[in-house]
Amino acid sequence: MKLPFKTLDDVETEGKRVLVRVDINCSVDPDTKKITDGSRIDAIVPTLKELSKSKVVLMAHQGRPGSNDFISLEQHTEILRGLDVNATFVDDIFGEKAKAAIEKVQVGEILVLQNVRMFEGELKKAPPHEVAKEAIVQELYPLFDLFVNDAFGAAHRSQASLVGFTTVLPSVAGRLVEKEIRILTEATATEKHPWILVFGGAKVADKVKTLGKLLATGRVDNALLGGLLGQLFLIAKSLVPIEYSAPIKGFESAVETAKQLLEKYPDILILPEDAAVERDGKRVECAFNEMDGDPFLDIGSLTVTKYVQIIRGAAAVVANGPLGYFEKDIFASGTRNVLIAIAECEGVTVVSGGHLGAMAINEGFADRISHISTGGGATINFLTGKKLDLVVALESAAKRMG
Ligand code: 3PG
Repeated sequence: MKLPFKTLDDVETEGKRVLVRVDINCSVDPDTKKITDGSRIDAIVPTLKELSKSKVVLMAHQGRPGSNDFISLEQHTEILRGLDVNATFVDDIFGEKAKAAIEKVQVGEILVLQNVRMFEGELKKAPPHEVAKEAIVQELYPLFDLFVNDAFGAAHRSQASLVGFTTVLPSVAGRLVEKEIRILTEATATEKHPWILVFGGAKVADKVKTLGKLLATGRVDNALLGGLLGQLFLIAKSLVPIEYSAPIKGFESAVETAKQLLEKYPDILILPEDAAVERDGKRVECAFNEMDGDPFLDIGSLTVTKYVQIIRGAAAVVANGPLGYFEKDIFASGTRNVLIAIAECEGVTVVSGGHLGAMAINEGFADRISHISTGGGATINFLTGKKLDLVVALESAAKRMG
């Protein structure tokens, strides 16, 4: 398969000063602020090892400002060191402290800059030439010979650190981006049906929009919903009361889109049929009208049975996002049972997103799933057929480089 952008095979890296953007946005325990799963960090190691004869500086984000998982990249650096990567951390992104540390990086060393989302200009989403004007790009790019983008998980975000450098530096894809694009293209090229989407988790405002785009392709035979996304659709269909919208960020606009999708695709969208709530520290399964205001923490057994049956008969399954509050073991069973069904499905199976991918790996299903993608939103956006912003930016860079 010919890729539309340049890769590490196309450039000389020995002795060069290389700026690498990765996606090591990890699951974080909301109370201890400790990283609970480092599989996205494991996934970038091949690219870093390949750059062992370069002077490498690493850029990445973690969480979003205001969220529970918005933390420094110091812990990520420690985890990298545990993976035999010669990494050090600097608590700065492009100020004098960062520049001085970048200047000192020697061949074989990797300097990790602070979480790029601590710089406000990084939050802006705009075309590459516009975000390239941000200080993060203008201050850093003169210090490097090459930009390597290996941030597949954030490939759908047109932000300065992701697409700005490609306008001013020779730019190529890292090994993870290359691998994800190749495998996802092959894994999802199947025209076989039934083609099943399992869609859960949070980031509901983003997901409902992507779901609309994916359904419009005509590819999806059934979308099985869970997590906060499922909750949104249950409210949109008046199956659970509006009070359940409290944890859903961006509810107002998302619920309107959900209603439109329910009207347009009534037979494709499959909603949970029962819930699991917590009473006296125990899991209790009930019908929606018996929830009594208790938070919806997992899909119940009736829903699991239905979802498992649909997944077993599928020719292709793509899953993204947990179906319940999987961090608490008594509410992980809905997601776990669905993952078992995916592992047992004989069709092509893709599990994507930090949380679900980590669970699939930790529970030992990795060998029985066609591909575990490090992307969440990026993977689902890829499946809509729209070119990812990161790919478009790397393609333009490749044309410029000749
Ligand atoms: C992800 O986890 O999907 C990526 O790291 C992108 O994060 P974002 O949705 O906060 O941009």
